[in-house]
Amino acid sequence: MKIYAAKDYNDMSRKAANIISAQILLKPDAVLGLATGSTPVGAYRQLIEKHEAGDLDFSRIHSVNLDEYKGLSGDHDQSYRYFMNHNLFDHVNIDKANTNVPNGLAEDPEAECKRYNHVIEEEGGIDLQLLGIGNNGHIGFNEPCDVFEKGTHVVTLTEETRQSNARFFTSIDEVPTHALTMGVGNIMSAKKVLLLASGEGKAKALYESCFGPVTPQVPASVLQLHSDVVVIADEAALSLIRKNTGWEDMIYDN
Ligand code: PGA
Repeated sequence: MKIYAAKDYNDMSRKAANIISAQILLKPDAVLGLATGSTPVGAYRQLIEKHEAGDLDFSRIHSVNLDEYKGLSGDHDQSYRYFMNHNLFDHVNIDKANTNVPNGLAEDPEAECKRYNHVIEEEGGIDLQLLGIGNNGHIGFNEPCDVFEKGTHVVTLTEETRQSNARFFTSIDEVPTHALTMGVGNIMSAKKVLLLASGEGKAKALYESCFGPVTPQVPASVLQLHSDVVVIADEAALSLIRKNTGWEDMIYDN
């Protein structure tokens, strides 16, 4: 695991966009695992700028997103399909037919999860998986629990996650109670993982994920077992790691 320190959110986003760009330049038909939430928005903005400058071609890129709320259609402005269209896909030359997000309206969600696992397989696996991290250490919507779920599955969102995402809805009652999410196995199968963290609210989860025991109670901790993880975190998110001396030399400052 490599940890890169970023000064702030913008610096984190710039560094992340550089790594994603490098992936696209090195493999123009790469499969990108994409994430939603506040964290990756800045990186997506920078990717759009690189595309507009003529430096980045998405025409052969395929993508699979981590998760989707159960019960929301792709047209709902809080659905993750809508988020991806709005924050990235509508602004670059990606073929939307090559972009995948679980269907939150599937009549049979279990069958949809199976279908999604097949999609990832048929795409040939994920070259670069982008991740944010929840305040509780979740990745995708893999919430703290007793086991690491392998494949795509339906999950009951924790109260903490619903509260944290309520800021995007008019009231907490509107936040869906369930979601479809890639499992930890899907994420761990990605060839490379890029985890982003910004803000003090993420400091504890990030510290525990990078240096605590590997446990499904802190889902991101499983990334310690992946052979190619890059973490880019701003100073606020790194604060606990910095405080617990001994780990300093694992952080790349630049
Ligand atoms: P955030 O969410 O980017 O909105 O902080 C991250 C996550 O829950 O994975």
